Amino acid sequence: MIDSSTIIAIASDHGGFEMKEFIKTKLETAGYRTKDFGTHSDSSVDYPDMIHPLAESINNGDFEIGIIICGSGNGAQMTANKYSGIRAGLCWNEEQAMLTRLHNNANILALPGRFIPLEQAWKITRIFLTTDFEGGRHTKRVDKIAINS
Ligand code: RB5
Repeated sequence: MIDSSTIIAIASDHGGFEMKEFIKTKLETAGYRTKDFGTHSDSSVDYPDMIHPLAESINNGDFEIGIIICGSGNGAQMTANKYSGIRAGLCWNEEQAMLTRLHNNANILALPGRFIPLEQAWKITRIFLTTDFEGGRHTKRVDKIAINS
């Protein structure tokens, strides 16, 4: 459970810009604070330019949790998962969001900005933020993911 005192890092490219703005507003209305790593318009940009700074800031402990969005969600997820301390899960529905927290202890939610409705993205986000890692048998599996630390 991510409590509302936690600052949620959020970033997108142009393909996820509309969804980022929507989710950011929803988060702030729900009482969360956010740190926006851009992009700040729907002009074409390269997703690694926004995703690397966000992923690096979570990897080094400045932030605990993040949300990243590009058109498909894949480029953003691939970029973030280059960091040994990042576990970014690409989620298209609420069950995936629940599972990536319960089983993978994901610290970044990746969303496909061009493939799901905005309200669906918000439902996914709420599940992601309110579901805790299950631990137990999943701990040793998650511990085996990183190849450098
Ligand atoms: C941008 O057109 C698009 O390629 C990007 O948002 C993303 O889907 C990449 O994986």
